[in-house]
Amino acid sequence: MSKFEYTIGKEVNLKEEWKKTLQGKELHSNFILRFMYLAMDIIYGKGREIDKFLVIEILARYPYWAWETGSYLRLTRQYAGPEYTKKSNFEDAWHHIDIARKSQDNEQWHMCILEDLMRQRGMKRNFLMHFILPRFLAFGYYFLTRIMYRIQPSWSFDMNTRFESHAEWEYAKAVEDHPQWEEEEIDTEYFEYYPNVKTLADLFRRISLDERDHKFESWEEYERITGREFKP
Ligand SMILES: [Fe+2]
Ligand SMILES: [Fe+2]
Repeated sequence: MSKFEYTIGKEVNLKEEWKKTLQGKELHSNFILRFMYLAMDIIYGKGREIDKFLVIEILARYPYWAWETGSYLRLTRQYAGPEYTKKSNFEDAWHHIDIARKSQDNEQWHMCILEDLMRQRGMKRNFLMHFILPRFLAFGYYFLTRIMYRIQPSWSFDMNTRFESHAEWEYAKAVEDHPQWEEEEIDTEYFEYYPNVKTLADLFRRISLDERDHKFESWEEYERITGREFKP
């Protein structure tokens, strides 16, 4: 039984949950994340706009991919090793693969929906900002997580908890920054894969809640594998 309340796949009052996020505060970020947020503010501006969130979503998939590939490689090492594998070792890897696949898909729908909304709005895409730099950042973020996960998995669960907390907070604040989004009706063909919401404000509230779930999952996994309480 989890101590956290997850909301993915549940009917929730988006406004009430959104207020809960705003009444709380973002988790403390380590220096790597703070450097990344600073770089993003310099490149994409401090404003919480759709194109900046698209870049966050491109990056957000990578820790999950790093856990997935890292776990598969761990299984290869174990099953191709001289000793027989314990079932508990398999289960640890499998659990990480499972979390990673589900969260990776969820981040992917965020990415697809935001990109589609940009297309519908005719927002210009800049070669450097929307093509070169996201690839560069994604490459760095993937290998950083991959290395952390290889050396000490708890480091990457700790970092991802903080990154997801930042995402939850930024999406919630974006709704506060743009009261006009309450009236802005949206539609996208990617609602085939994602809870259908009517307005841009509610889409950002729903994504913020997904990020909260991702935060809790990493938090929980950190505590499970270390046996220690997570320090917010
Ligand atoms: Fe996301
Ligand atoms: Fe996330």
